[in-house]
Amino acid sequence: MSLLKVEALQVAHGPLQALWNVDIDIRAGEKVGLLGANGAGKSTTLGAVVGYYPALAGAVHIAGEDVTRMATPDRLARGVALVPEGRRLFTEMTVRENLEMGAYLREPRRKLAETLEQVFTLFPILKEKAGQAAGALSGGQQQMVAIGRAIMSRPRLLLLDEPFIGVAPIIVGDVMRALGEIAAQGVTIVLVEQNTHRALDFVERAYVIENGRTVLEGSRDDLIGNAAFGSKFLGLD
Ligand SMILES: Nc1ncnc2c1ncn2[C@@H]1O[C@H](COP(=O)(O)OP(=O)(O)OP(=O)(O)O)[C@@H](O)[C@H]1O
Ligand SMILES: [Mg+2]
Repeated sequence: MSLLKVEALQVAHGPLQALWNVDIDIRAGEKVGLLGANGAGKSTTLGAVVGYYPALAGAVHIAGEDVTRMATPDRLARGVALVPEGRRLFTEMTVRENLEMGAYLREPRRKLAETLEQVFTLFPILKEKAGQAAGALSGGQQQMVAIGRAIMSRPRLLLLDEPFIGVAPIIVGDVMRALGEIAAQGVTIVLVEQNTHRALDFVERAYVIENGRTVLEGSRDDLIGNAAFGSKFLGLD
């Protein structure tokens, strides 16, 4: 069964229509990429899944339930978490406080101590820095806090919007490994990523969005073998 199904979705930002026809269908346990150029509509798609932007037309289903008209907190309560573009941490607050913020719903709050230990196991550096202001951390460590905060809500579907921006190259591997562990624990992952090579190292399958439309979908191997995709996104001739 689909964990996330987006059907013929249309979304506008004020007078500007950003999504015209986005179709996505993701099963539980998958690792799926959302690829596309700047301004293609990747962030708008993730935002529409969690209800930041209303649908003009089309539908969003989570685990078979139509959430298209549902408010954001109700969607999050169904097990969706978004790690937004630019992290959006509370920089004056401590790492621990930022993490705890992710556990505000009832069930996650009950399991807060246990989940916090899981986050510290994924990202040991955060345990060391738990008492420091989040804003004092490096870009990579702040991204770990943003991912950790999402994990604190105990999601079954984790949406990540360009999580490697501002992360030093030597830290990218650590974050990637942590995402792999999160996936291995059964969390379904949707990764928006500019670096197509990096995305295809991680995901099993990806969608390509162009001008607000899903124009291509395929397994990693299908996409790598697709000449048009290769020349556009992988720098292959
Ligand atoms: N909050 C907003 N207000 C107005 N227009 C917006 C807003 N967010 C996005 N847009 C516009 O909607 C279109 C899709 O943007 P979106 O951010 O979804 O693209 P993206 O694929 O995430 O791009 P990027 O790779 O640059 O992050 C673009 O034309 C963008 O300028
Ligand atoms: Mg974006």
